[in-house]
Amino acid sequence: MKRKLLLIIPIFFFYFNPSNVLAADDQCYTCHSALEDKESKLFAGDIHFKKGISCSGCHGGDNSSEDNEVAMSKAKGFIGVPKGDKITEVCAKCHASEKMMKSFGSKLPVNQYDNLINSVHGKSSTVSSTRIVNCTTCHTAHGIKSVKDPLSPVYATNIPKTCSKCHGDANYMRTYNPSLAIDQYTKYLTSVHGKLNSKGDPKPAQCASCHGSHDIKPVKDIKSKVYPVNLPYTCSKCHSNKEYMAQYKIPTDQFEKYARSVHGKALLEKNDPGAPACNSCHGNHGAAPPGVESISQVCGTCHALNAELFSGSPHKAAFEKKGYPECETCHSNHEIVTATNKMLGVDKGAVCFRCHQDQNSNGYKSSLMMRSLIDSLDDTKQSAIVLINEAEQKGMDVTEVKFKLRDINQVKLETRTQVHSFDPKKFKDIVDKGLVISADATADAKLAIHEYYFRRVGLGVSVFLISLLAFGLFLFLRKIEKK
Ligand code: HEC
Ligand code: HEC
Ligand code: HEC
Ligand code: HEC
Ligand code: HEC
Ligand code: HEC
Ligand code: HEC
Ligand code: HEC
Ligand code: HEC
Ligand code: HEC
Ligand code: HEC
Repeated sequence: MKRKLLLIIPIFFFYFNPSNVLAADDQCYTCHSALEDKESKLFAGDIHFKKGISCSGCHGGDNSSEDNEVAMSKAKGFIGVPKGDKITEVCAKCHASEKMMKSFGSKLPVNQYDNLINSVHGKSSTVSSTRIVNCTTCHTAHGIKSVKDPLSPVYATNIPKTCSKCHGDANYMRTYNPSLAIDQYTKYLTSVHGKLNSKGDPKPAQCASCHGSHDIKPVKDIKSKVYPVNLPYTCSKCHSNKEYMAQYKIPTDQFEKYARSVHGKALLEKNDPGAPACNSCHGNHGAAPPGVESISQVCGTCHALNAELFSGSPHKAAFEKKGYPECETCHSNHEIVTATNKMLGVDKGAVCFRCHQDQNSNGYKSSLMMRSLIDSLDDTKQSAIVLINEAEQKGMDVTEVKFKLRDINQVKLETRTQVHSFDPKKFKDIVDKGLVISADATADAKLAIHEYYFRRVGLGVSVFLISLLAFGLFLFLRKIEKK
């Protein structure tokens, strides 16, 4: 593609030398506006017209000739009406050339063409050999506005409609990519972003803020702005920008906290595809903060068992009544850290103690009990480990016992999940299972150590006996010799 462009540039350079392009005495426009055609009417409000660019800037020809035959002759480089991919090449002659843009005193970037042809829209379409989009699909051909002009089809509040002309059209989309959903716009309108955008606020995210404009990639492409490992950065461009968000009075610490959380570390540092990015909890197009009742559903898409247990727990109804958000109340939302036993119980730092402070309440007693149960599991596991290590150091075979340690770890995992039943009885049943294995492992380790000593004592005794026997033999032999 680049090579093609390089060929085009010298051919057109003559016609694009600014004296041919600029409309000092623009006969194209003069004649066409006298004809009162649609194009020249629109062109009167076009940014190119305002920059002094003539019709010939795109169509070629000689804009100084009053004679239409001359002005619009092939010999003068008139190209007629560009079609298909040619349209994009026409725009690229200026917009992909730094030299050309500078000659108009413009400091705009010149990457639109390169980005577009490498984007999902830049590839050939399935129904014709031309690209899916060209520059005029989004910008129009005559009446092009600065992208900061509210009348531009790519001004923030118009973008959702511009993209949805295709992306919301089932018949159109089916001919290109039947597997692609067509509900982005409808969902978008239900989000906080979409609601504000449709009321005329250009700041909340719209299609191009999340996907890009010229460089849009398929969402499964690792270079896509919405690919999981890139997405938090895409959201944080706005949500971490205090100045940009000032008028909205919501915190701007979500990314910072998320990056520190188990989830953020797992995704951004360990590249764990199972860890949530912002959209796992907030949705893609219906981005809204999950409501109080739906938080456990959001978390439950991954932590299914925790959510199920929570739903069956006494907290379900109690939290609903008081309007506490479910998982978030104990784990927070963005800065979720590894859960520890310290969360349980009635110490000052424990989450239970925040609500269960009355020593006579069931909640208090249960919290206390659950903590001491899980601590006892840890304690017995710890003492089993100490003994197993001792036996191993003494050279005893501990493979079997170590398997039991794994079983204890398994029970520990179950226990931590079972917390969410907030049912001390069920909790105790599982902990007991672990205590039994722990006791078993401890006994096995003790036995191994005992055996070690037994063998050592046995060895000592037998060495002693053998020595004694040898000495006796020696005396006996001496006695015989003397005789
Ligand atoms: C003296 C009048 C006159 C001048 C000067 C003139 N045009 Fe035209 N142009 C016309 C007329 C008349 C038509 C034919 C309209 C039609 O067919 O409906 C036309 C048609 C066109 C078309 C459509 C061609 C097609 O194939 O459909 C383009 C594009 C165009 N002109 C661009 C230009 C450009 C660029 C210039 C200056 C380099 C220019 N014109 C100068 C009168 C003029
Ligand atoms: C910024 C580039 C650009 C400029 C400047 C421009 N055009 Fe066009 N014009 C196009 C493109 C691209 C098309 C191809 C059709 C489309 O994409 O809408 C086109 C199409 C046309 C057509 C055919 C419309 C049709 O429906 O078939 C006419 C006529 C025309 N232009 C006339 C003009 C006239 C007259 C001017 C100056 C007043 C002008 N153009 C300035 C890019 C331009
Ligand atoms: C899929 C829609 C779409 C297509 C196709 C498209 N643009 Fe854009 N363009 C946009 C949007 C949206 C913006 C607004 C700025 C942004 O969000 O990056 C923009 C901005 C621009 C700007 C302002 C400077 C900048 O880069 O932000 C220029 C110039 C521009 N486009 C030229 C082009 C050219 C030339 C082509 C063809 C090679 C093209 N555009 C194709 C959507 C599109
Ligand atoms: C003859 C050179 C030339 C051609 C051809 C050309 N442009 Fe431009 N375009 C410019 C210049 C110069 C500007 C003004 C840049 C500025 O204000 O810094 C501009 C501005 C724009 C802008 C507004 C950018 C902004 O400031 O927000 C858009 C959008 C745009 N062009 C799109 C197109 C499209 C689409 C085509 C093809 C149909 C096209 N241009 C063809 C030279 C050209
Ligand atoms: C707040 C950011 C955001 C906004 C705004 C947004 N998207 Fe998306 N979009 C996403 C994310 C995230 C995905 C899904 C990525 C994934 O599946 O991994 C996505 C997926 C898509 C897909 C792929 C099919 C699908 O639905 O999963 C298309 C097409 C799409 N978006 C188009 C649009 C259009 C059109 C708009 C504007 C109406 C828009 N998007 C607005 C973030 C956004
Ligand atoms: C001319 C119609 C058209 C317009 C306008 C358009 N798109 Fe597309 N877009 C498509 C088609 C067709 C595909 C599917 C390409 C394929 O999968 O082969 C696509 C693909 C995409 C994808 C990739 C989906 C995936 O993961 O496979 C995203 C994201 C996307 N478009 C976003 C946008 C955004 C954002 C805009 C507006 C700035 C936009 N599109 C404007 C037609 C369009
Ligand atoms: C272009 C800037 C921008 C981008 C990018 C962006 N947002 Fe927003 N977002 C906003 C603005 C502005 C608001 C409106 C604040 C308000 O009043 O709620 C908002 C609101 C929200 C809200 C509702 C907050 C509330 O309590 O009202 C959520 C949730 C949200 N964004 C999530 C996301 C996610 C997730 C992403 C990335 C997929 C994202 N945003 C990308 C600008 C952005
Ligand atoms: C593990 C799920 C989860 C992840 C991941 C997540 N959020 Fe949230 N987010 C929530 C919950 C839950 C709320 C609070 C909802 C409530 O209390 O009503 C929230 C609230 C918000 C709000 C509203 C303002 C606030 O801070 O309370 C914004 C904006 C937001 N999140 C943006 C983001 C962004 C940006 C990211 C990615 C960097 C992100 N979230 C990642 C679950 C998540
Ligand atoms: C997309 C899936 C997904 C979603 C949604 C999700 N998580 Fe996670 N979560 C994970 C993964 C994966 C890990 C393990 C990260 C690691 O340690 O490497 C994890 C870890 C955790 C941990 C630490 C576990 C431990 O061993 O201490 C807690 C607590 C947690 N998540 C709570 C939540 C809460 C609360 C929500 C909802 C607000 C939530 N998660 C939403 C996937 C998810
Ligand atoms: C009342 C406080 C509380 C609520 C509400 C709560 N948790 Fe927990 N969560 C805890 C405690 C306490 C632990 C375990 C501490 C430990 O390691 O001993 C824990 C541990 C976890 C773990 C790590 C253990 C495991 O199962 O892998 C995850 C994940 C988790 N919670 C997710 C959730 C989810 C999802 C929800 C909402 C459905 C939720 N939590 C609601 C207190 C709570
Ligand atoms: C945000 C406040 C809050 C937190 C934090 C909290 N609880 Fe509760 N809990 C309640 C409420 C409200 C009830 C309803 C009965 C009541 O008022 O005591 C309840 C009830 C219970 C019950 C049932 C009591 C009964 O009467 O049968 C148990 C058990 C319980 N909580 C355990 C815990 C444990 C364990 C933790 C810490 C991991 C914890 N709670 C953290 C608010 C909380």
